[in-house]
Amino acid sequence: MCAHRVSVTRRIPRAGVDLLHAQPDIEVREYDHDLPPSREEWFDLLNGADGVLSLLSEHYTGNVLDQFPNIKVLANFGVGYDNIDVAAATARGVAVCNTPGVLTAATAEIAWALLMAAARRVAEAVDFVKAGHWETWGPTSMLGQPVVGQTIGIVGYGRIGQCVAAMARGFDMKVLAWDRSPETKPQDGVEFVDFDTLLAESDFVSIHCPYTADTHHLINDAALAKMKSTAILVNTARGGVIDQDALISALGNGTIWAAGLDVTTPEPLAPDHPLVTMRNCVVLPHIGSATITARDAMSMLAARNLIAVLRGETPPHIVNPSVLDRTSL
Ligand code: DGY
Repeated sequence: MCAHRVSVTRRIPRAGVDLLHAQPDIEVREYDHDLPPSREEWFDLLNGADGVLSLLSEHYTGNVLDQFPNIKVLANFGVGYDNIDVAAATARGVAVCNTPGVLTAATAEIAWALLMAAARRVAEAVDFVKAGHWETWGPTSMLGQPVVGQTIGIVGYGRIGQCVAAMARGFDMKVLAWDRSPETKPQDGVEFVDFDTLLAESDFVSIHCPYTADTHHLINDAALAKMKSTAILVNTARGGVIDQDALISALGNGTIWAAGLDVTTPEPLAPDHPLVTMRNCVVLPHIGSATITARDAMSMLAARNLIAVLRGETPPHIVNPSVLDRTSL
């Protein structure tokens, strides 16, 4: 007889799913589709599950967890877990796990791709060529902002922020950082400054903080007004960190120069959304961790988290370790 029932709520790379199937004490149900399940399908997957390999597009509130009291672990496929009410999960003894580390470089690469694309108007230039507007080499066309030797400000100096900072050294940049946690310490050549100084002195502001009640709309009208008019804002964290209405105004009236966003609110944005149509905004469809190796590793790590909690072992990455003492399986 099977000891544990788990549900995988979306098609993810096979590595982790195969690992789950290989466990004799685990029965796996898969929602093998690229689009998220409907609410009814999602609830059907949660019904009777002891553990869930969960996705960022599902919102696990206390109310949802109350309806599925068997669930002991939510193993989120991602480093972010703002889709889970962790306090509610903890109160119900549900372990919340995530997949940090394995997607650090991939996400930092996308921050740099956005930074370069926005600074050097890459997306706009590609559209220009495709639309047949390229008539000649133009001494005054498509002029962008320089990157080498400029100042980058890192908001949130965790794993990904640190990786972006390390990459900035190759561009001979000055690196400023700001982090909410007083315990976070700067590393070689990175200067910790207060938030307002970071905004005022950076040519590029790159967001890497988690999305919480404290960071909701951290980048608002007031913050944007403190930035340079030549500044570029990059966000690979979560859309909610930026007040998008404020950003639309700032991009439209020249308060800042451009933005590159891998994350938005909502996701997806409609093709006619101002942030999508504005010339000086580059929007990607949340592909920060989307390399083959990172996604394989996320799949494996989420599966290992799930298996460990269900067996009463310590998982590789748990967000609320206090529940481990209380979880009786
Ligand atoms: C995460 O891991 O939180 C990303 O947003 C998706 O990989």
